Amino acid sequence: MQEKPLIVGLGGTGSPNSSSERLLRHALGQCAAKGADTLMFAGLDLDLPMYSPGEEARDEKTLALIAGLRRAQGVIIASPGYHGTVSGLIKNALDYVQDMAKDDAVYFEGRAVGLIATAAGWQATGTTLATLRSITHALRGWPTPMALAVNSMVPVFGEDGSIVDTSIANQLDILASQVVTFANMRALHDLSLLQGVGEREAGGAGGQ
Ligand SMILES: Cc1cc2nc3c(=O)[nH]c(=O)nc-3n(C[C@H](O)[C@H](O)[C@H](O)COP(=O)(O)O)c2cc1C
Repeated sequence: MQEKPLIVGLGGTGSPNSSSERLLRHALGQCAAKGADTLMFAGLDLDLPMYSPGEEARDEKTLALIAGLRRAQGVIIASPGYHGTVSGLIKNALDYVQDMAKDDAVYFEGRAVGLIATAAGWQATGTTLATLRSITHALRGWPTPMALAVNSMVPVFGEDGSIVDTSIANQLDILASQVVTFANMRALHDLSLLQGVGEREAGGAGGQ
């Protein structure tokens, strides 16, 4: 029986409940509804020391983030656009993925990565999203075909914080579906490889 895939989200800003954090939380909720376990690192969870090459000491928050990402079968990243690109908070957190450079599943290898960019105008949503895709490629992850460019000047949330823009809600649902489906396909692929090895070993032993 296949275990539930773990989808790890990281995003938001230092202010709790920022729009990028709310979109991330919604996307993770959709992943959970599709049968995944989820883990979210948002806001102050990502207030990490500035990444410094050669510095190997890690605080608890950084260790928790990297441990979560190591266990992840899928990832969702949500960043506000700051001056046309990914915020420093999110980029700094992603720089710590360098700690996974020598893992068997190096960086985001074999994981689907859903991407969400928010900005106070369309131009920065596009450039921020393009940067998130470039970072994902550099980290050997698989950006999902559906990604979100959300203009926070257009009403997205109702007074209770829920998403009132049905187009955004639909896009988040598709993104979640693509991340979870890829994670499940990957798990089945790994399982069939393992079974193949097991059968070959059993057959080999019987044939000797
Ligand atoms: C430092 C800073 C830089 C920003 N730069 C841009 C920008 O270049 N283009 C833009 O459209 N919005 C810019 N914004 C606005 C944010 O991207 C926008 O308000 C976004 O929705 C914030 O997301 P959040 O609610 O998750 O914080 C900037 C905001 C800050 C604080």
